[in-house]
Amino acid sequence: MSNDSWLTRRDFLMKVGILFNGLVTAALVVPIARFLAASITRGEGKAYFSWVPLGPVTGFPEGETRLATFRNPYVMPSDGKTVDTACWVRRIRGDQFQVFAVNCAHLGCPVRWFPQSGLFLCPCHGGAYYRDGTRASGPPERGLFEYPYRVENGIIAIEAGELPTPGASADLGRRGPPCA
Ligand code: FES
Repeated sequence: MSNDSWLTRRDFLMKVGILFNGLVTAALVVPIARFLAASITRGEGKAYFSWVPLGPVTGFPEGETRLATFRNPYVMPSDGKTVDTACWVRRIRGDQFQVFAVNCAHLGCPVRWFPQSGLFLCPCHGGAYYRDGTRASGPPERGLFEYPYRVENGIIAIEAGELPTPGASADLGRRGPPCA
């Protein structure tokens, strides 16, 4: 084996090694960069704070609270069925509503509305909320989270995309109608 061919083979293996390392680095760095960029740019996308219709207001009788579902506008390919989101719609009177996140403010279990007792009850740890979403008892430290809503042409829509969380609740309150 000549010295030249040995060098050529060494060069070739070195180039393959560099290419392989570059691919591995890209495979590791790109998802991390996308994750970090998403936390910065997420509020700038159109979908993140889209107004999502829940249906005609006539579907929500005055004085009652009903379950509604909507498709979360902020969809990731891996979301699957989880983009179908539920919320509780309380029609107080006329165009005056409250739209509650279905998730308990404690650890996020879905709460259920019990019209007989006028309470939202959480099956996980016994959290309870009054009909206006304020905390009644149990481990939750606050009331149910609310979505900003608006009524146009007889259709109620909510500003959806981001599930309300303690960190975001102040934000939601500033942009939408006053919470209970
Ligand atoms: S998740 Fe509802 S009380 Fe804990």
